[in-house]
Amino acid sequence: MIIALDGPAASGKGTLARRLAQHFGLPHLDTGLLYRATARALMEAGERLDDERRAVEAARGLALMDFDEEQLRGREMGEAASVVAAIPAVRAALFDMQRSFASRPEGAVLDGRDIGTVICPDAKVKIFVTASPETRANRRALELARRGEKVNYADVLEDIRKRDERDSHRSSAPLLAAKDAVMLDTSALDIEGAFAAALAIVMGKKP
Ligand code: DC
Repeated sequence: MIIALDGPAASGKGTLARRLAQHFGLPHLDTGLLYRATARALMEAGERLDDERRAVEAARGLALMDFDEEQLRGREMGEAASVVAAIPAVRAALFDMQRSFASRPEGAVLDGRDIGTVICPDAKVKIFVTASPETRANRRALELARRGEKVNYADVLEDIRKRDERDSHRSSAPLLAAKDAVMLDTSALDIEGAFAAALAIVMGKKP
């Protein structure tokens, strides 16, 4: 069974994907990490984020096992990832890695922006996770503060709005709910409530 979760930044899709993967004993891929790692490789090499040739080389050079999540989760890296993710050739370079992860015989849980629309259009379960920008900014500010980053709410809200705008309006694989996705608004839900709702969606659609 393939479970595809898509949604905007800090909607809760990553946490839900991890929990669903644990529950069903499936492998999980947070595809945002691929774009974050691509951006980080470019930044470490002193390259520009919009240098298409270098960005594609960086994307092709990634190995899933090498990710240092701690380094990739910061505020700056989310914004940088959104910039490289708008380059169609970078998305193409990361396509096979995601597809082969999803085609494991036991299935998989993937979360991102284009899983239900582009990477796994045949997924049995597609959930589009949303929450209001204010709720997402609150969650992201708390998460960054827990990581020790100095943040203020207004800046985080501004980041979220900017990222929504870029991710939703790029030409290649914009953030979009698949036609057959079930919408899940987590604005008024805590983690347990959101997990229960996601599980109900999966059970309802499980073949
Ligand atoms: O989910 P995240 O915040 O870690 O993602 C970081 C950026 O990567 C996001 O702003 C857009 C991009 N991304 C994407 O374009 N497609 C995906 N499947 C996952 C992430």
